[in-house]
Amino acid sequence: MKVAPAAALVGDVAVPGTKSIAHRALLLGAIADGESAIRNFSRSGDTESTIAAVRSLGVDVLDDGPEDVRVHGLGLRGLRAPTEPIDCGNAGTLMRLIAGILAGQNGTFVLTGDASLASRPMERIAEPLRQMGARVETTEGHAPITVHGGARLRPISYELPVASAQVKSCILLAGLYAGEGPTVVVERGAQTRDHTERLLRMMGARVQSSPRQASVWPAERLAATTVELPGDFSSAAPLIVAATLLAGSELRIHGVNLNPTRTGFLDVLERMSARIGVFNRRTLAGEPAGDLDVRSAQLVATSIEPDEVPSLVDELPLFALAAGMARGQSSVRGAQELRAKESDRIESVTIAMKALGIRISASDDGFGVRGVATRPKGGGMDSAGDHRLAMLGAIAGLVSREGVDVRDAEAVAISFPGFFDLLESVTRR
Ligand code: S3P
Repeated sequence: MKVAPAAALVGDVAVPGTKSIAHRALLLGAIADGESAIRNFSRSGDTESTIAAVRSLGVDVLDDGPEDVRVHGLGLRGLRAPTEPIDCGNAGTLMRLIAGILAGQNGTFVLTGDASLASRPMERIAEPLRQMGARVETTEGHAPITVHGGARLRPISYELPVASAQVKSCILLAGLYAGEGPTVVVERGAQTRDHTERLLRMMGARVQSSPRQASVWPAERLAATTVELPGDFSSAAPLIVAATLLAGSELRIHGVNLNPTRTGFLDVLERMSARIGVFNRRTLAGEPAGDLDVRSAQLVATSIEPDEVPSLVDELPLFALAAGMARGQSSVRGAQELRAKESDRIESVTIAMKALGIRISASDDGFGVRGVATRPKGGGMDSAGDHRLAMLGAIAGLVSREGVDVRDAEAVAISFPGFFDLLESVTRR
């Protein structure tokens, strides 16, 4: 996909519903009592994987129009073991969260995924599940994972060795089945996204949470619920960066999720002198949301510290580009988790940005960028099959002097299938 340079982004858009909440609403809907409805559901490679997974466990998921689904929950212990492995595709969130639920079911479940997912670390969930009494086997630390459900689970208090909402959520979901409770997850650094805690609470589970700790008590049942998903902040982020970097831009993005555990990138852009207004604050799916108004700005460099990383972990590839066009030296530290994402994002981002003329250098746990306050040259880059890299390449194309040829651009379909069309609809050349 060749993306030509642009003059500005102008107009009004909405981005697909939050993928993180979509996974959780499907998984929790599957073990609730009764029918849950998810509105503004966005269909993507990842969310289709979760629909297929819960269907394979005997759950009816009904299409209720292009952006609405209904889930017929089978109750907390009602999932049925399929004869075939459950294919999680590219979706780490699906694989890690469903493992916690399956530990509380009867039967044996095998979880597989694509080559990227199969290369990602899975002992991080297997180990705490075993501490709870579950029988879980990984394949040398990776998928395929086998979960032998039905063991008596006991509550644990677990300090997360890595800042991961997926690991936290896996343990909390297993905690729904664990003895007398509570099951406690302690976060050493900054709080990771808390979508699971919020949704569990909406569905009647007893959950306590603070920035450092989340606790869940065993449940008798979860109540079905209806949620309207706010737009995904991580899908809005590429548009925010493009509108900020292209002089003369005026872009409004409506109904975006503004959960504070997700919006660290807004704070970072603000201290880089971006001009982003938030209007019409409201609550969607039990989470803060609002409309964003983005104007172009000349950015100045900044440093991202380890404590900020969880709140913007999926936006760090975009930060590399923004920093490249800012004035001065920027850096990211404490982001070694980037190496365990859909690609090794320290490696893939550094290679891609260098190829386009950004002055970036990798470190073990982040990268440094020398910003030059002008457009990068452009050229060709590879998404490495990673959806966030493909979107980064497209935005780099818009803000470049010569355009960018993004190889394997179809990877955007993992989270945002309509990305290129939506981008084109607001691009002025
Ligand atoms: C996610 C958590 C993050 C994030 C991923 C989605 C989630 O992963 O990178 O895209 O929905 O819980 P980690 O929890 O492993 O950091």
